Amino acid sequence: MTETQRLVQPASAVSAVDAIYHRRAVRDYTPQKVGRTSIHALLDAAVYAPTAMHEEPWAFAVIQDKNILNRLSDGAKGLVRSEMQNSDAPQSKHALDLVNKPDFNIFYNASTLIVIYSKLQGSFVVADCWLAAENLMLAACAEGLGTCVIGFAVSALNTPEWKAELEIPAEMTAIAPIIVGMPAGETPTVPRKPPEVIVWR
Ligand SMILES: Cc1cc2nc3c(=O)[nH]c(=O)nc-3n(C[C@H](O)[C@H](O)[C@H](O)COP(=O)(O)O)c2cc1C
Repeated sequence: MTETQRLVQPASAVSAVDAIYHRRAVRDYTPQKVGRTSIHALLDAAVYAPTAMHEEPWAFAVIQDKNILNRLSDGAKGLVRSEMQNSDAPQSKHALDLVNKPDFNIFYNASTLIVIYSKLQGSFVVADCWLAAENLMLAACAEGLGTCVIGFAVSALNTPEWKAELEIPAEMTAIAPIIVGMPAGETPTVPRKPPEVIVWR
């Protein structure tokens, strides 16, 4: 099988709708590393997202080096701390409590971080990257893998220092950092409010 081959779904595979309802933000992982073939399959699912003007404005970084992940977590915690300190937003207190814990790893010790970068500027580039992110997370869920978006990592990934360390071209922007791994257990469902329809004419 080539590295870029699409996921070949067995007859018992979960449907897209099942994946939508079963995907959870997973924050507890086994130490098992996600294999290259699985990662290529997730990236392939990501690039099948719709994209404005068919620009395909994304590029991906895959980070599995534990040392890099731990240092990135520490650097990101410092940045989040300074960003949140003067914020009145209700979520800031929770974020500060988390990043002030010395043992807190923003990647929850997941074996793999995939970062979706935008290569271009434009009105829909960010939307395109998030659509790719959701495709990736649903494909992972269908494969029995857990994922979680790590917004805490965005500021650090966009610093010149981390772009240089990861050899990311300066003009690219980190949009969606997503951890991927084998879930260590069941993740409870987070309830949703019913859809609020404001107009239906
Ligand atoms: C843009 C974005 C940023 C997020 N950042 C984080 C984060 O830094 N850390 C974290 O643990 N979860 C993060 N999440 C996950 C959300 O907390 C999670 O999706 C939400 O609580 C709903 O839970 P569910 O995905 O299991 O339904 C993020 C989600 C999104 C969409």
